[in-house]
Amino acid sequence: MTKASPTGGAAVQGRDAASSSAAPRHLSAGALAAAREIIALYPEPRSALIPLCHLAQSQHGWLTPEAMTDIAGLVGVTPAEVLGTASFYDMLHTEPVGTYVVSLCTNIACLLNGAAELLEHAESSLGVNAGGTTTDGVITLEEAECLADCDRAPCAQVNHRFVGAQTPESFDRLVAELRSGARSEEIPDHGTLTRVRRSVGLQADRAQVAAERAAMAQAQSERAAAKSATAEGGS
Ligand code: FES
Repeated sequence: MTKASPTGGAAVQGRDAASSSAAPRHLSAGALAAAREIIALYPEPRSALIPLCHLAQSQHGWLTPEAMTDIAGLVGVTPAEVLGTASFYDMLHTEPVGTYVVSLCTNIACLLNGAAELLEHAESSLGVNAGGTTTDGVITLEEAECLADCDRAPCAQVNHRFVGAQTPESFDRLVAELRSGARSEEIPDHGTLTRVRRSVGLQADRAQVAAERAAMAQAQSERAAAKSATAEGGS
């Protein structure tokens, strides 16, 4: 599922590519060390772009323009390319969100089991429309497409953790537990996707990757030359 272009994008897009080579200034020392370990797992630094977005997002729950610029510098792309990638995925936030993002599915199985009524209740009890964040900054409510939990419809997730079928009453209890911190062990704050990080690299031979890239570039060049010769012959 794709997202609309974020309003925060202009700040990133307005920077030129040269700024991406600046020293990281937003990622914490721990995140920066983790980022370098993640990059080392891949044949090419840019392949680590999405894992680094998740890593940066776990700091504040969303990808700030500064974080995207840091990531760009680390993997050798422009900040606009980081934004272009991050804004495509629902699990990456390019605008501020609450400590807990509560996703209510309104796809067909959930809709048939009361999702519309549940969403209406959630909006009313939280005092925000879907897409909004409560004034205390704790809850962002969002409407989601199928969350692959159809047998527990109408279902919900909090920060990408399944919290099962919900009724208006259980939803209110869930929100109270989130606010009190009673679910903090089970559901990490912000966008922390995983607490276990991969430490083994891809089984890819870097020399082979380079050779295949060169062969592909050669083939592209030959196709372009053939196309050009055909066009000249026809004129
Ligand atoms: S339709 Fe709601 S989880 Fe599939």
